[in-house]
Amino acid sequence: MQTDITKLLGIEYPIIQGGMAWVAEHHLAAAVSEAGGLGLIGGANAPADVIRNEIRETRKLTSKPFGVNVMLMSPHAEDIAKVVVEEGIKVVTTGAGSPEKYMKMWKEAGIVVIPVVASVALARRMERTGADAVVAEGTESGGHIGEATTMTLVPQVVDAIDIPVIAAGGIADGRGLAAAFMLGAKAVQMGTRFVVADESIVNEAYKDRIIAAKDIDSAVTGRSHGHPVRSLRNAMTREYSKLEAEGKSFEELEYLTLGTLRKAVIEGDIVHGTVMAGQIAGLVSKKQSAKEIIDEIISEATNLLKNAGSLV
Ligand SMILES: Cc1cc2nc3c(=O)[nH]c(=O)nc-3n(C[C@H](O)[C@H](O)[C@H](O)COP(=O)(O)O)c2cc1C
Repeated sequence: MQTDITKLLGIEYPIIQGGMAWVAEHHLAAAVSEAGGLGLIGGANAPADVIRNEIRETRKLTSKPFGVNVMLMSPHAEDIAKVVVEEGIKVVTTGAGSPEKYMKMWKEAGIVVIPVVASVALARRMERTGADAVVAEGTESGGHIGEATTMTLVPQVVDAIDIPVIAAGGIADGRGLAAAFMLGAKAVQMGTRFVVADESIVNEAYKDRIIAAKDIDSAVTGRSHGHPVRSLRNAMTREYSKLEAEGKSFEELEYLTLGTLRKAVIEGDIVHGTVMAGQIAGLVSKKQSAKEIIDEIISEATNLLKNAGSLV
């Protein structure tokens, strides 16, 4: 299944695994790349040496292309920006802002730069600064989110720019991939479905919570502070939402979310931890290897696209 994105990245299938904080480490990234997609290491707030090590560990497991997600608000962003160059990484995705200040260095190193955007305005700006593609991420996604839905955002971004668009948010099966193509996307990025992959180091309690989730089980906290985050409802989200409704500030509520993603991912505390996952968690019903996930999605999408002609 070749598209502008598979050609740009040198991968077999148009499926990218999101660079998820704590989750997207070398086991998962390597497994996704080995299966023909693009695995990403999540830079998140980790120090540069941790990411350097993750890159080297990934290389031991796969010789296929993989990338790094650089979280631009991280205190270590500048150092990680240099590490990806030093380690010869070929694909970088960026989140939480604009990567303009690193663009020259990355382009000179031959890196394909793919910012994640949640609006047409940011997509346009990214194209002007020399991005090779963008991920248009809808509000259905797990983690930090924007306002527009994937269904509305993707076609508007596709119309606004000339570089390829990758759709993210609420995509977890072949129907989602086929729909993304219909909206004009050239690939998809998935987070939630890969969290439950066999190769993901996420605590089994977290994976089981996603498997058990229903369609309306996610909640958004932090909207009133301008930092909305989607995760599965639990004691933490209820407490946060209650205090947020009472008008408590971001600073006053920070204690509720500090280190809580780690608590859920590593310790399996799904009651007080942040169980980041998207609205599509309700559709994710089984644990499989990254290869099984990718093969199943590609086969389903291929059948759907082949049969689409019967509609007209
Ligand atoms: C547990 C989790 C952590 C995430 N952390 C990050 C992150 O650190 N940086 C980032 O750009 N996106 C992050 N995301 C978003 C994913 O990369 C991806 O775009 C999103 O999950 C797609 O939506 P979906 O969950 O509906 O598949 C995270 C998502 C999840 C579920």
